[in-house]
Amino acid sequence: MLWVLRDHLDMPGTKYGCGIAQCGACTVHLDGTAVRSCQLPVSVVGKAAITTIEGLSVNGDHPVQKAWLEHDVAQCGYCQSGQMMSAASLLKTNPKPSDADIDAAMSGNICRCGTYLRIKDAIKSAAKK
Ligand code: FES
Ligand code: FES
Repeated sequence: MLWVLRDHLDMPGTKYGCGIAQCGACTVHLDGTAVRSCQLPVSVVGKAAITTIEGLSVNGDHPVQKAWLEHDVAQCGYCQSGQMMSAASLLKTNPKPSDADIDAAMSGNICRCGTYLRIKDAIKSAAKK
């Protein structure tokens, strides 16, 4: 699915990191649930809805996106679309996550720039909105 999104549908917001479901850079939503698109065969998607960072909101005003800006989360930015997609999926099912909930939901998203503390603060801000 990652290559269909990037190369065929021209939506490069979803990133290729490891290709083996270890980094989270390629995270998209499959019917609202965060999944690793690098390991998602197109053949299993069927009529399920795929949402990428491009479709998370119309004007970049999803609470997670606004909180990311508010907390100046991104450094190099490469991991951040995947981080936001995982955060949005978490808040959809758990609008008031504890620190442990956030750690568990975000544990599969790696940031080599080490923005983890700002990510956690941004998720807490988004939860309040
Ligand atoms: S590129 Fe899919 S998890 Fe790393
Ligand atoms: S902001 Fe650089 S890898 Fe996360």
